[in-house]
Parts: sequence; C-alpha cells; structure tokens
Amino acid sequence: MTATSLYVHVPFCVVKCGYCDFNSYVVVDEELHDRFLAALSAELGRRWRGGRPTTVFIGGGTPSLLSPARLERLLAIVGEHVDLAGCAEVTMEANPESLTVDKARIARAGGVNRLSIGVQTFHAHLLRFLDRAHDAAKAEAAFVAAREAGFDNISLDLMFGIPGESFDEWRRDLERALQLGSDHLSCYNLTFEPGTRFERDRRQGRTGPNDQGLDRAMFEHTRSRLAEAGFEAYEVSNFAGRGGRCRHNDHYWLQGDYVGVGPGASSHRDGVRVTNLKPLDAWCDAALSGPTCTASAETLRPLQRVAEALWLGIRRADGVEIEAVSRRLRIDARAALEPIFVRQQREGSIVWDGARVRLTGEGLLFADQVGGDYLAAAIDG
Ligand SMILES: C[S@@+](CC[C@H](N)C(=O)[O-])C[C@H]1O[C@@H](n2cnc3c(N)ncnc32)[C@H](O)[C@@H]1O
Ligand code: SF4
Repeated sequence: MTATSLYVHVPFCVVKCGYCDFNSYVVVDEELHDRFLAALSAELGRRWRGGRPTTVFIGGGTPSLLSPARLERLLAIVGEHVDLAGCAEVTMEANPESLTVDKARIARAGGVNRLSIGVQTFHAHLLRFLDRAHDAAKAEAAFVAAREAGFDNISLDLMFGIPGESFDEWRRDLERALQLGSDHLSCYNLTFEPGTRFERDRRQGRTGPNDQGLDRAMFEHTRSRLAEAGFEAYEVSNFAGRGGRCRHNDHYWLQGDYVGVGPGASSHRDGVRVTNLKPLDAWCDAALSGPTCTASAETLRPLQRVAEALWLGIRRADGVEIEAVSRRLRIDARAALEPIFVRQQREGSIVWDGARVRLTGEGLLFADQVGGDYLAAAIDG
C-alpha cells in the first residue's frame, strides 16, 4: 500500500463557536457518543484496508470532550484496526475546557504522541466574542496537564484578526504561547465562513473584519517574532518549534493519500475522492447498517489533480517543484499552468524560476486567492 494517512472525525463540541463551519454538533444525550463509537468501529473495519498509516489525526469537533471511558474506547477502536504503536505521528485535538490530566494520560496510553490544543486567544473578552467555553487559566492548565501526562509535542491553535482585536492584544497572545513553551504553533487569520453566525452578523452589519492593514501587521509580526523564537514557518499558518512540522498536514499539502472516517470526512486515493454523509444521524445509520456511508465519489480529472497539487502545495514554504508534480501525475503541469505562473509572478504574488513556484512575502497574504487561480483554471480547462 502507498503511504496513506488516517483522519478520524469526532463531531461533538461543548458549544458551536460562531466562526466555525466544521461538521460538529452540540448534543446533550451522551448515548449518541456511544452510537458514534459503534459506527466508527464499523466504518473503520470496512474502510481501513490494513497496513500502518503514515500518520493519524484524531480531530473534530472536540475529541477531548468524550468521557475518560469513551476516550479510552475511541483509542481502542482505532488501535484495533491500525498499528498505532508503529505510527510516527498520532495527533489528537483537544479543547482547554475538557482536557484533564486523566484524559491526557488516557490519550498517551492509547497511542497519541502529539496534542493540538485549541486556545485561540488568552483574552477574556475575545474568548467570549468567539463563544469559547474556556478562559486563559483553563488553557494554561490544559497545557500543563498535557505535559504532566508525558506529552513532549504539544501544538497550540491561535487566531488573529478577531473583530475588535488590537495589535497589542495579538502580540501578547503570541508571547504567552511562547512562554508556555509550545512545540508547534498554528496561527490562523480569522475568516468569515459561509453558513456561520459570524458571516450572518457580518452581512447584517453587526460585525466585520478588521482593517486589512491591521491583519497584515499581525501576520508579519507573527512571522518575524516566531522566526526570532526559532520556529520554522513551513506553511502559511503553521510554525514548527521543537516538535517539528505536523507530518499529517504536510502529507495532505503534498497531496498524499488519506482515509477519513466519521461524518462528513473525505478520503483520497489515487485521484479518487470519496466524501462521507455529513449529518451525524445519517452517517451513524449508514455506518451501522449499510455497506457504505459514502455521500459522493468523484474521480478527479488529470488537470484537476494538477491544480489541486498547486493549490495545496503553494501554501508550503518549500513551494512546488513542477517536474515532480508532472512525473507523479503523468501530465505536463508546466504546460497546463505556466501562463498563470507568469501572470502571478508579474503581479508579485509568486516566484517562478522555471522549476519551482513559491509564494512571495506579498503572496503569503493572499495564499487563498493564489491557490484559487489554479482551481479556477481546472474548472475552465
Ligand atoms: C475546527 S477546530 C477543531 C479543534 C478544536 N475543536 C478547537 O476548537 O480548537 C481547529 C482549528 O480551526 C481554526 N478555525 C476554525 N474556524 C476558523 C475560522 N473561521 N477562521 C480561522 N480559523 C478557524 C481554529 O483555530 C481551531 O482551533
Ligand atoms: S472551533 Fe472547535 S470547539 Fe469551536 S465549534 Fe469548531 S470544532 Fe467545535
């Protein structure tokens, strides 16, 4: 089997944050957690074809929200189907309000060797604005709990560009994350996603993005401050400290194969993308009773695969080596996309040296648009 990663989606949250469009549900009836675990076991049994995954990522939603006994069961289910002990990186996402030393120990014993904790900010008024269920003290306690349980690779998720946030507030968030001793940082510029409360509020004039100049200043400060602190900016929003890069995400940006299980999860193997049923109930029913919980399957056209290779890969600091993409996908990527590279280079967003494309400092600020140009070309082509 070629290198394949595994993604496990745990779709539960304590609250639904106003900015988040991930497939997650606030459920009061914990029996649904058990039903989810049974369905997950059934789906993994059918979908994982054996062999050791390159990496595993247990994300969400909020995996740490499960009770200790259910968290243990979740990891036992994954461990029944895949060889976690031999897997180089097994990440689990956790939220400060639910990560305890006890749960962190269960995760560690169950094979997780990397934790990603969603802190977002340490400022009380901004946490409230984001609908987060924790405060700064809980975020720090969760980090300490993870260390106490033996985790030596802890990443923190932070967000900047929160409406009303000042430059100094972001600067202090970054300092606090560094003081804690995070081994990796993800620093996301808040986006207004379709279908979220934030986006509705924006349309109705109740909130809106900050001034673009302020976002830019925060982004540039992030890069220079983290470079000074010894972090490698290996992707637009991701910075590797002592813990190194997130191999799972890097595999994804390199267009590696992956299997995704859980509601709404997608899988990609050799240019075929399969997406699971999104609603929790429908996915559970299908996983428990039917042969498949798939909602759609799509065989990507060669030009689509090339465009996606660029869309994903351009986010990496290393950029994309065009001949390598051509060889791997057996299509002339240069011929397909060179006119776009030339235009983007003229506009100042990328450097194209005839072998490799890479974002410029300016392009980093508009990575989504730069990548979007490649996808648009595949639709037109
Ligand atoms: C979907 S969450 C899952 C992990 C966990 N539940 C949490 O809240 O941290 C993963 C990360 O995505 C980021 N995120 C989600 N929605 C975002 C948005 N609209 N803009 C920027 N970052 C976002 C947050 O930083 C969050 O930590
Ligand atoms: S950001 Fe995390 S906690 Fe908030 S709704 Fe999304 S997945 Fe849940």
